[in-house]
Amino acid sequence: MNILGVTGPALHDNSAALFVDGKLVAAAEEERFLRIKHAKRRQPVNAIRFCLAQAGIRPDEVDVVAYPYAPIPLTSPARWYYARRHWYEPGRALRAIYDGNRKVHRNTASVAQLLDELGIGSRRARLVAVEHHLAHASSAYHLSGFEEKTAIVSIDGKGEYATMFFGYGENGTIHRIKEFYDPDSLGWFYGALTEYLGFEIQDGEYKVMGMAPYGDPRKYDLSRLIQFDGGGIRVNTRLINVIGRRQYRANGRKYDFSREFVRWLGPVRNGDDIDEPYVHYAAAAQRLLEDAALSLIDHYVGDIIRETGKLCFAGGVALNVKLNQRLLAWPQLKQLFVQPAAGDAGTSVGAASYAATSFGEPVQKMEHVYLGPSFSTDECIAACREHPQKPAWVRLDDAPARAAEIIADGQPVAWFQGRMEFGPRALGNRSILGNASHPGMAERINAQIKYRERWRPFCPSLLDTVARDLLQSDHPAQFMTIAFDVAAHWKARIPEVVHKDGTARAQVVSDATNPRYYRLISELERHTGNAVVLNTSMNRRGEPIVCTPTDALNLFYGSDLRYLILEDLLIAKD
Ligand SMILES: [Fe+2]
Repeated sequence: MNILGVTGPALHDNSAALFVDGKLVAAAEEERFLRIKHAKRRQPVNAIRFCLAQAGIRPDEVDVVAYPYAPIPLTSPARWYYARRHWYEPGRALRAIYDGNRKVHRNTASVAQLLDELGIGSRRARLVAVEHHLAHASSAYHLSGFEEKTAIVSIDGKGEYATMFFGYGENGTIHRIKEFYDPDSLGWFYGALTEYLGFEIQDGEYKVMGMAPYGDPRKYDLSRLIQFDGGGIRVNTRLINVIGRRQYRANGRKYDFSREFVRWLGPVRNGDDIDEPYVHYAAAAQRLLEDAALSLIDHYVGDIIRETGKLCFAGGVALNVKLNQRLLAWPQLKQLFVQPAAGDAGTSVGAASYAATSFGEPVQKMEHVYLGPSFSTDECIAACREHPQKPAWVRLDDAPARAAEIIADGQPVAWFQGRMEFGPRALGNRSILGNASHPGMAERINAQIKYRERWRPFCPSLLDTVARDLLQSDHPAQFMTIAFDVAAHWKARIPEVVHKDGTARAQVVSDATNPRYYRLISELERHTGNAVVLNTSMNRRGEPIVCTPTDALNLFYGSDLRYLILEDLLIAKD
């Protein structure tokens, strides 16, 4: 069965994914093709076309189209809860009751129109609407490969109305235990703090997480923002997660916190520095998020974790690697799978996997994220010939070995290989690599290409042979979804990839899933003695990760990078 998952224009991080007979064969985010980060309110047209072409499937061979946004009936408590909690804006509150699915209907109509335009046919293919959090839950559980009873948690800003899902999976079926509804949202709380700290909501959350270790979480008490206790949670909508007239307004924009919030904590932060008191607010917000999430997870699925030791996690908040580190520290938790595309990009995968299992087609474990387009060396040569800079290239016999030489010599390398990654992390196919042991490397990469805030951490990719010694954990850590405490005897060896708090958001590389990257790091180990490379995504600040060789060339010539390797081609600047 060919099952296509598509997000719709109502979501951000729009994407498409394709399952063929239960196997995820292709997935990509629309932003990579459009070259517009997050591709908000855009249909995943290019992503769908790519998925079909990759699988060699005609549009009329798609059997099922699933999308992660479904009508919520009036019999659900969701719309009533929304109305009650937003009564301070009566118009919005009432509309949740009498016209509460308008966004879903608009999205459905838009998806149907797109399917007709692409020749898939909205009346020919079977359309399946999957509730947003069920899609997140499925993207974690059904792709985890876990067979025993498994706790499932999904936490994000919000889907239709739900903001958090707690449940479990057993024999391939997802069971719901508890959901929470808008405005009681941990993702939205963190997003509002992200805005307050001067970043974009649904974009800069990871920057808040990166800033937090520089602050002291005890310095300011933010606990009045969220009350949680005994399985309940209530966000203070006098201060945060506000709509309408309660929203703070300045500089022609509206914020997700109130005027009262700004009176309490002071003006909205701007600039690139880590400054007081904001750095302490970041630390306190991070701590509050962790404490609230851990308390709810323990309350609703703690017994399942204690029974079988398995937990699957998705939703935007599952990208919080520090929260995941605390989850993994639970002694009872034996296996944690965080869907690598935990944000909304992953809901195309989740809607499709949910549909597949509901039609009786089991879904295979997600072994890697190399699910996007790839380009042969000949295609890279063609891209060079067409590029206005007329790059000269050298054909390499052993690209990983040459890359390792350059990196060992202290130069960053843009490393473009194989199929593009799905999800927010570059995991060795669209990466900029540097020497993790070379003091100043992080700054050099910042100066040459990233131009990002100097306090933001860079991350390591390391071989499975040293993972246990370095990370002090047996977790497979393939996807950079968890932070680990770096062992004391490694910290001085790889200073460029250890964060302020002694942790690293690590990717463990195995020969089975990425042999060329594995070989590169092995060669680097021969030169430096460390089977570790600094890995950052191949993009400039504010841009999506590169997709094509032309994107990589544009980035290369728009930066001070000196070396680019496109498949087997080395392109160097003098
Ligand atoms: Fe979501």
